[in-house]
This record gives sequence, structure tokens and C-alpha cells, in this order.
Amino acid sequence: LTRDRYPVQRLPFSVVSEDDLAALERIVPGRVITDPEELEAPNVDWLRTVRGSSQVLLRPRTTQEVAHVLRYCHERNLAVSPQGGNTGMVGGSTPVFDEIILSTALMNQVISFQDMSGVLVCQAGCVLEELSQYVEERGFVMPLDLGAKGSCHIGGNVATNAGGLRFLRYGSLRGTVLGLEAVLADGTVLNCLTSLRKDNTGYDLKQLFIGSEGTLGVITAVSILCPPRPSAVSVAFLGCPGFAEVLQTFSTCRQLLGEILSAFEFMDAECMQLVGRHLRLASPVQESPFYVLIETSGSEAGHDAEKLSSFLEQVQGSGLVTDGTLATDQRRIQALWALRERISEALSRDGYVYKYDLSLPLDRLYDLVGDLRTRLGPSAKHVVGYGHLGDGNLHLNVTAEAFCESLLGALEPYVYEWTARQQGSVSAEHGLGFKKRDVAGYSKAPEALRLMRQLKALLDPRGILNPYKTLPAHA
Ligand code: FAD
Ligand code: MLT
Ligand code: ZN
Repeated sequence: LTRDRYPVQRLPFSVVSEDDLAALERIVPGRVITDPEELEAPNVDWLRTVRGSSQVLLRPRTTQEVAHVLRYCHERNLAVSPQGGNTGMVGGSTPVFDEIILSTALMNQVISFQDMSGVLVCQAGCVLEELSQYVEERGFVMPLDLGAKGSCHIGGNVATNAGGLRFLRYGSLRGTVLGLEAVLADGTVLNCLTSLRKDNTGYDLKQLFIGSEGTLGVITAVSILCPPRPSAVSVAFLGCPGFAEVLQTFSTCRQLLGEILSAFEFMDAECMQLVGRHLRLASPVQESPFYVLIETSGSEAGHDAEKLSSFLEQVQGSGLVTDGTLATDQRRIQALWALRERISEALSRDGYVYKYDLSLPLDRLYDLVGDLRTRLGPSAKHVVGYGHLGDGNLHLNVTAEAFCESLLGALEPYVYEWTARQQGSVSAEHGLGFKKRDVAGYSKAPEALRLMRQLKALLDPRGILNPYKTLPAHA
């Protein structure tokens, strides 16, 4: 499956021996998994596009155990692939060959929560949705949210620098992660787990690990700043007649909703058809070429309702929006969010998915979708566009009955060259992992890529951490 599609050669790492298994068993007793059935799922990515052949999965519980495992693997020259919830979109979390899978699934303890500042310190394997629940019970929210919340781990979120649905309001994890602990390739524990808002004592080393996709160290704990839970949340789901109107609606929204705007997401008509067909979710508004989901979060429901109603009056009166619905109760809000959050699930049920995650200038954000519909014709089943419009992030997805080399040839490098011409990013939020590592050069200067390689060599001289990932294969 993997090897033919992405030509890659196994590097000369050691092969796990019986002696290694016995040594690992002493480090994580009872948590060395070698049962082929149990290894099936962690060897395959969420999109079912890549498959590894690892025969060993480890489930450490503590930082010390991770340190011992890595010290051992480093000495023995055994490659390791860190894995959280295995929801990544770029084949970063699954082994490529026989790398040992190091799972954070049992590192799921909250270490502390300060209910004055909202600082949460927890182990890397905590599931995002469980953390959300934990902090919400205490009057706070997690600064990030994504459709994969039920499975993804906070360590995986930090390792990918995940964006998601609250980015517009709370910004990047590069700002909300206050500190972290990571274990380096040789087993050294790097404790940068501070909870300070301000700390300019030299280089901000934690940033190296945020978005490093398991190639520089294994994140074992994080300290993260949670904002207060907004007491009033509303969601408007609106239909727009064209993409120009979507953009106009966004401008109007920023002017009229100001500080209460907390999300602005969009999806096209084909996305709505797919969530209808594959997930049986019904559209709450009349059929339209585009839909937007606008969320407001504030501290006073009356104030927000007033702002929302003058906004809705304006966009409907001027024809920017042709139909819409508004929800203020939790259940309806969740149902409206599901239409947007579950698009990736609907797509994966539609067939093989070619997935692109681009940062683009807003005025050109949707151009490529129409362009590709014409370019690909009937060779594609669906070409859809959706995403985090408020952050300039397009999710461009193409589906087909099965993987097809000529369809791939029509998409790549075309999509990447087009993006580079707009000075965009070929990976806005999903990272490079295994599948995108060779396209980094479309968005990063050669000098920057060289420095990435030097940093990798410094932190992981034997290259045992997530080999074949993130760094381009060719210099
Ligand atoms: P995994 O998939 O297990 O791993 C991802 C990468 O991080 C791998 O390279 C892995 O080696 C590394 N890694 C994992 N844990 C650690 C660790 N403790 N230390 C070091 N490295 C580690 N992404 C967005 O940015 N925005 C979205 O809105 C979004 N929505 C999604 C919706 C769905 C339905 C799905 C399936 C995915 C979505 N994603 C989104 C992709 C996103 O990258 C992941 O969901 C999430 O951040 C990965 O977390 P994970 O625990 O599953 O990590
Ligand atoms: C999303 O925003 O839905 C995610 O990034 C997942 C995807 O792009 O499919
Ligand atoms: Zn996304």
C-alpha cells in the first residue's frame, strides 16, 4: 500500500530482537504489545492511506518510562514512531517500516489545574475532549477544538501545532502552550514545563517541539492556558449565493460582531451533499452554493443577541445571505457544528481522499476549487472546498472511487505550484508528516530547510525519532 505509492527505502536501523523485547518488557512491564491483531489499527492512519509494519507497540505511563525506552532505543539504534490518537492527516503517526510505536494512550493524567489563572498541566496522552470536559466543569474552556476531539491527544495536538475551530478566537498553540516537557532521542528529559505567562530567559525552546511532529523529541507533558468559559454562545448557520458573498459576510461580521466573533467556518454545496448522503445529516437551511457557520462567544447573552440580530438584518437585507438559522441552546449548537466538523468523515466514506490543507489569500481562497473541477472533469468523484475561512485556511479535498495515479498526477504538483504562486502555505495546519514532507520547499526557503535539518541532527543525531517524516527526503 505505502511503499509503491511513496517510494522510500528503509534506513539501516536495527531490527527488534527477542533480547530487545525482554529489555523493553523490563522498562514497561506488561505494556509491550506484540499481538498482530492489536497492532493492526496503530499501523494504519485515520485516512487509511498509509500502512506500516511495526511489530511492537509500547504503552509507557510515565516520563521516566519514556526516557528509559528512548535511552535504550538510542543505544540499540532502534527507530521509534510516537503516536497519540492516530488522527493525523499526513501519515505522521504511523510507522513507515518496522519502527517501534510509542503510544501515549496511558499517559492520561491531569497533573494540576489552577482555577484562578486557568493553567492546566497534564500528561501528553490526555484526550482533548476529556480535557475540555474537565476544564469546563471548572469554568474554563480549552483554547483549541477540532473534529477529532474524541480521539486526539493533547500531545499530538501540540506535536502537530493543530489549528482547528477556535483558532480565530484564541490563536495558535504557539501562544497558548506555556510550557512543555519532552524526552529527547537519547533519553534526556527536557523540563520546560513552566506555567508562566512571561519568560524571556533566552531561546523559547518549547517552540521547537510545537509542530515538530515527533521528529525532535517525545512530548510527555504540557502546560496550557485555558480561557474563561464564555457564558453566552450562539451559532448562526447561513446560506450564501456565491463566494464573493461569503467574503462580504465575513467582513460585515468582523465589523458588526467585533469582539464576540469566535469562529467563521465555511463549506460549499458539495460538502453539504456529502454529509447528507453519508452521515444522514440534514441541512438546516435552503440549498445554497455556500454555507457559513458563525459562532459568537460573550459574557452577556442580551448584548450578543442584539449584535447578532443587527448583523443578520444587514446581511439578509443586502442579499449576502439568502437563508439562515440561529441556535443558542447547547444541543442545537452541537447539531449545527456537526455539519461542519464531520465533513472529513463524510469524505472518507465517499472513497479515496486526496487532501490538501492550504493557507491562501482570502480573495483567492476558493478559486482553485472551481479550477480543479474543470481540470479534473469526471476523473474525480467530488472536488470540495471548506475550512477555517477566518484564518485564511482552505481544505481542498478530491475524492475518487479508489486511488488513481493519473488523478494524482493531475493534482500534483499543480495544487502546490498554484499555492506557491499565491505565496500560500502547502500545509496550513496538518503538518508534513510522511505524505507531505517533500513539498515543504513550495512554502519554505532552502536556507530554512537546511536549518531544520541541522536542528534535527543536533537533537536526534542517529535519526531514530519518526524517521521518513517532516524533513524532505532530498536536500
Ligand atoms: P497523532 O495522529 O497520533 O500524531 C500526529 C503527529 O504527532 C505524528 O507525527 C506523531 O508522531 C506526533 N506525535 C503524537 N504524539 C506525540 C507526542 N506526545 N510527542 C511527540 N510527537 C507526537 N487538525 C487541525 O489542525 N485542525 C483541525 O481542525 C483538525 N480536524 C480534524 C478532524 C478530524 C475528524 C481528524 C481525523 C483530524 C483532524 N485534524 C485537524 C488533524 C490533526 O492533526 C489531529 O487531529 C491532531 O492534532 C493529532 O493528534 P493525535 O493525538 O491524533 O496525533
Ligand atoms: C477540518 O477542519 O475539518 C480538519 O482539518 C480535517 C480535514 O481537513 O479533513
Ligand atoms: Zn481544519
